[in-house]
Amino acid sequence: MGGKSRRILGVAAALAVLAAMFAQFVADAGEDIVGGSRASIAKHPYVVFLADPDGRQYCGGTLVAPDKVVTAAHCVTPFAVTDIKVVGGREDKEATAGEVRPVTEAWVHPEYRSVTEGYDVAVLTLADPLPYRLLPIAGADSDPLYAAGEMATILGWGRTSAGGESSQFLLKAEVPLYADDDCAAAYADFAPEPMVCAGLPEGGVDTCQGDSGGPLVVDDTLVGISSWGEGCAEPGNPGVYTRVSTYAADIAAALEPAPPTTPAP
Ligand code: ARG
Repeated sequence: MGGKSRRILGVAAALAVLAAMFAQFVADAGEDIVGGSRASIAKHPYVVFLADPDGRQYCGGTLVAPDKVVTAAHCVTPFAVTDIKVVGGREDKEATAGEVRPVTEAWVHPEYRSVTEGYDVAVLTLADPLPYRLLPIAGADSDPLYAAGEMATILGWGRTSAGGESSQFLLKAEVPLYADDDCAAAYADFAPEPMVCAGLPEGGVDTCQGDSGGPLVVDDTLVGISSWGEGCAEPGNPGVYTRVSTYAADIAAALEPAPPTTPAP
């Protein structure tokens, strides 16, 4: 081999290294939740995931009492309740860290029909408590937490692009809350009582399939439950979340222990 071709090989190798570095930079720069980054479960211990009968993560949830998880109604209705498992304390879906709890009971909002009609809220009861920090829920009087432009945190293991793969690791991102009028302009099905929207007008950051049921957090308070959206992270199409404050009384009632069954005479 002549000196010239050796030099060409050297340049090609250097370019290959640069290309690999660039690909890694692009991967690090985004494409998570959509447009998010790794989140530590230690900092967000109240985030759990729901596993289907095959043990696969398919939705998120929020621990609001030691044995109660708030999630979306549409995450509960596809399965028999006792086939759902809740996994807490596990940042990496492929690891065995954390704790798994069978679900013994579910309250699904009785008015729930489809995500675009609202009422997309459910409360799961776990067979045993989980030992993690709880997230308080937004009460009926928490309007200030819903101010347009307020920054909210989204968390989940869902897809990192529309139609793409779900994430192995817990991801998070920050998105501003939308004004209700702006969301109504984006979606004919938006209704301000059951729903709240969040996202950047230019898109790029959003929840996506598999993030449903997971939390939208403002001021360390659960203000929303990931519910629906047109595509993921599209400009002008924000994520739509169940407005937790609207359902605060229903959720509180579902957190009460089941009344004791009357013994037979
Ligand atoms: N319905 C989806 C789920 O089941 C959540 C979709 C959220 N979409 C969005 N563009 N924010 O996981």
